Amino acid sequence: MASIGVIGLGVMGQNLARNIARRGFRVAVYNRTREKTETFVQQHPDPNILATYALEELTAHLERPRRLLLMVKAGAAVDALIAQVRPLLEPGDVLIDGGNSHFTDTERRQRELASDGILMLGMGISGGEEGALRGPSLMPGGPKEAYEMVAPVLEAIAARAHDGRPCVAYLGPGGAGHYVKMVHNGIEYALMQGIAEAYDLLRQVGGLDVDHLAAIFEEWNRAELASFLVEITAHILRVQDPQTGRPLVDLVLDRAHQKGTGKWTSQNALDVGVPVPTITSAVEARYLSALKEERVRASAALPGPAPEPPGGLHMIDQARAALFANMVVAYAQGMALLRRATAEYGYTYRLADVAAIWRAGCIIRAALLEDIRQAFDQAPELPNVLLAPVLRHALAERQQGWRATLIAGVHHGVPMPATAAALAYYDGYRSARLPANLIQAQRDYFGAHTYERVDRPGTFHTTWRPDVTM
Ligand code: 6PG
Repeated sequence: MASIGVIGLGVMGQNLARNIARRGFRVAVYNRTREKTETFVQQHPDPNILATYALEELTAHLERPRRLLLMVKAGAAVDALIAQVRPLLEPGDVLIDGGNSHFTDTERRQRELASDGILMLGMGISGGEEGALRGPSLMPGGPKEAYEMVAPVLEAIAARAHDGRPCVAYLGPGGAGHYVKMVHNGIEYALMQGIAEAYDLLRQVGGLDVDHLAAIFEEWNRAELASFLVEITAHILRVQDPQTGRPLVDLVLDRAHQKGTGKWTSQNALDVGVPVPTITSAVEARYLSALKEERVRASAALPGPAPEPPGGLHMIDQARAALFANMVVAYAQGMALLRRATAEYGYTYRLADVAAIWRAGCIIRAALLEDIRQAFDQAPELPNVLLAPVLRHALAERQQGWRATLIAGVHHGVPMPATAAALAYYDGYRSARLPANLIQAQRDYFGAHTYERVDRPGTFHTTWRPDVTM
């Protein structure tokens, strides 16, 4: 008998099954196509892996209550699979959806399955193929009793942070796990875009070649910018195309794809009213990148500023400061959204725990997350990461470099949407008074939407043009 079953042997499913088996749990695996299962067990023979070739066979070989991890593409495939496996399950069995499902789909499935007494966890899994094999960051949510039934397996397979804590925590009921993963991906988009902007500026304006840039990202990764995404950027910049001998990154088509999780973060942030402009500008930068043919035509029609001689070393330090600030803002926006979701959806995770389980294993792991974890640990009600004393000072020290970087981009016509959005968020957040008074006046002017006053309570309406009768 097996402790857990894995359905879906794509790379993530395969690597998670191998990870589970290596940790000493017996795992039964199943894939829709028989050949994939056969090839998998031939390539990775392990006495703890049991191949099965029908769902009936799989469910018959699981200890009761059953624990089943679904590793299929988010969307209709998850519903189709649940419909197939549901008749084979019994009350008390646990289904874990390990894909990037939308949290509202997860909540709907939880309700549907609850009528049969089947418990469903929605679990975000981050870390890509390597993380799945060596230790991912896991973000489970759903019925607590279901989490407790799978916790030993999850804790064994998760990445470990430097303090030895496994990168998994019960994040609360409903779709909390998939919600946290959604926000993780929004932050992922923002960090990637911020790095791309620093790279682009230093390349186009700084005139640095890829080897020099790789060395810079390597150096940055050794200090305050230490993070998975900065690290892999340095690796990417070192890779040469074997055919042409050119840097491979130069041959990659500049059209970014996406599967939708970053977009969901922005959509949900709009729904619940939390500003996440850096994340949204990163999503939109991908959309703009997709307009390749249009951009190529426009580049011939729309002139940019006249090129100027490349900047010196100073620009590198400024770009470093700007990237750090962008990263802080990306986490700040994601955390602010996670905080609002606790009120909006009743999620119960602690932000310190979310930061803790993101410290290793996942795509957005970064040294900075330890500062964020400590900040929320010391002040659980901290309204925004920007206000954490250590980060507040770090941003204050870097803001001149941050501003200079953006100015350089604007000056030279290098688009830096995430940097611009991040800096505007910072400046907006630290403004005691914004020009929203004028917006309120305009709304009241044309729509009698009323306004509040700074000097007394109540709502007011003014006939702003008493001379014009409407
Ligand atoms: C992770 C990633 C992963 C995601 C890819 C692709 O945490 O391991 O978030 O789950 O699917 O990064 O995402 P896009 O196709 O949307 O860029």
